[in-house]
Amino acid sequence: MSATAEQTDLVTVTIDGIDVRVPKGTLLVEAAKLIQRDVPVYCYHVKLGPAGLCRICLVEIEGFPKLQIACNTPVTDKMVVHTTNPKVDDGRRAILEFFLLNHPLDCPICDKGGECDLQDYAMAYGQGASRMVEPKMPKPKAVDLGPTIVLDEERCVVCLRCVRFDQIITQESSLRTDDRGAHVIIATATGKPYVSDFSGNVTELCPVGALTSKTYRFRSRPWDNHRTTTTCTQCSVGCQMHVDERGGTLLRTMSVPEDDAISDSWLCDRGRYNVGFVDDERRLTTPLLRRADGSSTQVDWSDALDLLAAELKKAGRNAGVIGGGRLLNEEILLAVELFRALGIENLDARVGRQSVVRADGAVNHVDVEKANTIVTIGRPPSQLAPVLDLRIRKAVSRNGARLISAGEYPADSFVPETRATTAEALRTALGGSPGTVVVISDGVRREADQPLTAVLRALPAATTHFLIVPETPNGRGADALGLRPGPGGLNTRGMLEAARDGKLALLACLGADPMLRFPDRALVEAALRATPFVVVTELFPTETARLASLVLPVCSAFEKSGTTTDLAGDVLAVAGAVRAPDGVLADGDIVVELAARLGIALPLPDVLETTVRERIRTAPTPPPDVSPEANARPVEPGRLWVIAEAASFAGGGTLAHDLRVAGLRPPARARLHPATARAWGVAAGDRVTVSAASGAALHDLTVVLDDRVARDAVALLEGLPEAPLGTLGPRPSVRILKATR
Ligand code: SF4
Ligand code: SF4
Ligand code: FES
Repeated sequence: MSATAEQTDLVTVTIDGIDVRVPKGTLLVEAAKLIQRDVPVYCYHVKLGPAGLCRICLVEIEGFPKLQIACNTPVTDKMVVHTTNPKVDDGRRAILEFFLLNHPLDCPICDKGGECDLQDYAMAYGQGASRMVEPKMPKPKAVDLGPTIVLDEERCVVCLRCVRFDQIITQESSLRTDDRGAHVIIATATGKPYVSDFSGNVTELCPVGALTSKTYRFRSRPWDNHRTTTTCTQCSVGCQMHVDERGGTLLRTMSVPEDDAISDSWLCDRGRYNVGFVDDERRLTTPLLRRADGSSTQVDWSDALDLLAAELKKAGRNAGVIGGGRLLNEEILLAVELFRALGIENLDARVGRQSVVRADGAVNHVDVEKANTIVTIGRPPSQLAPVLDLRIRKAVSRNGARLISAGEYPADSFVPETRATTAEALRTALGGSPGTVVVISDGVRREADQPLTAVLRALPAATTHFLIVPETPNGRGADALGLRPGPGGLNTRGMLEAARDGKLALLACLGADPMLRFPDRALVEAALRATPFVVVTELFPTETARLASLVLPVCSAFEKSGTTTDLAGDVLAVAGAVRAPDGVLADGDIVVELAARLGIALPLPDVLETTVRERIRTAPTPPPDVSPEANARPVEPGRLWVIAEAASFAGGGTLAHDLRVAGLRPPARARLHPATARAWGVAAGDRVTVSAASGAALHDLTVVLDDRVARDAVALLEGLPEAPLGTLGPRPSVRILKATR
């Protein structure tokens, strides 16, 4: 754009006597923010845009006979505005009087007390006493709106931010208003509970105490909380979040409104609500050593570290390391330095499938929303990287992008998508000129996806970018920092096979649960049993930990500081918000202790972060190192192949050990095409057993019908401790057996 054009696109508006130059079309409410004039708003929100419903944002514009709303008035050149004067204050006072007519004024028992816009504006503009003599209109209180939220209808000011979030941002349209005038209430469109992976955001958007989170109700007052800003480490998106604690107890997480670059100011419910594990009583707090008879005994840290150092020294390069993708960058760097100094090249952060973790193209979160075409391939971002999925929804619903899901997995993004399960269908869907294309993949190289990937790779490189969602939150950092097989080193499958065959002296699982995550559970169990010394660092007694020789209890990401790497390659700060329980160490501290015992020099703390940033910036693109693990159509006739599905709330560690989110965990299920279900004699809701040719089986799965599932397949959830998918073995072909009751 030329300088002249830029000039003509700017206008000057005078707000409270101060000249502000802003782009033409800027809303008055936003122009006022630039000079720190906070115009009160209820219905307006910068991410939702204006609605013009509540009228609390009245301002005086010279030349206009009446007060105008700042939220829906674009500035014009030479406009003169007063955001505060007696006339404006009078107008707002009148509006507030209506808001307070039926409001219960139960601030002392309201969770929003202390951070409520009605309270604040009533103090600023209200008249102090009501002129109402009639009784207030009662409405339902403490309505159970869904698994995460309680609604108090009396407190609602009908700003409709919640409904508009649900329509504009998530595109889910499950909330609406019922009735009219003073009787209006917030309800779900179906009459069923409000269920969304982003439900918690409405509690933040609600300017009053009408929508409150079940996990935070009656827990604290905002002035008693201490706030830390950090990065969510539940997945690889890297959303910025505030963490509120009081007296050492982690109470809630909140979005960071300024985080336009990554979260777009939202959090998913997993990131928001999966915090109760921090003080769950099942947490490990003492190193555990397994005796010869299989039972465990507690040992002190010093003995545990001495033993581990001796075992590492004894094993030398004959050891393997699996995991580390949940650790912070600095911890990973230290661990890699230690292991490499011991000659260990068998390193792999990929616990589940052998996937590609980093793409060669550079693309970030905002690029997704600007793309003309978005292609998803593999397990959908809606379950692996939820807030990234909101960018997809934004790109399609507001920016006109096309969404294509390539392969067997629908994108499930609540916006129109074109499904393309063959290369020909994908070519047709892309059309002749797909524009800028962002391909979002889970990195797993499934045999069936290879023709589709070839079509995508043939697109012009300059306008086609690949973004990979790693299986662990810091999978990208772990890979770039060297937690991948070194020269001649083995990957996860290779290590497990070598261990099973008695060729590894030591196996370390760093925050990793291959018994749950690896697609061949029998191989993992055989490997763990055959390895002379297995050490696991964990928060909870997972199945892998139960088979370990030594289990070391470690900190969660809320209890340590450093950096993490998101799926776009950004290095983001993680700040400890609460103290770790007594008896627990950070993985990084364990590495430092081991290095001291082994006489190995590690990078000093003051250069750690710069070294991390430099290594991540300069990490070479990894060579292909993949092996197909699952999702292969079976050769045996009369059987079904298995589509491994992801679900945001399926998981074995923090998710399985958090009573607050227990109700959000998905039940074990078998998703089938209706025709397939008929052919196997089962119906929706039936309990079934899914059995592999080897005889391995998963029991008690509930049948769900879905006509998007391939007719020769069954879709099963991975990551559920109650039904670990790896039980069926790699590349399973299965039969469905109806349970007899
Ligand atoms: S529940 Fe809250 S966000 Fe929704 S309309 Fe009422 S006041 Fe607004
Ligand atoms: S999308 Fe990922 S990083 Fe963001 S809040 Fe959810 S779990 Fe956390
Ligand atoms: S904030 Fe302007 S009308 Fe509601």
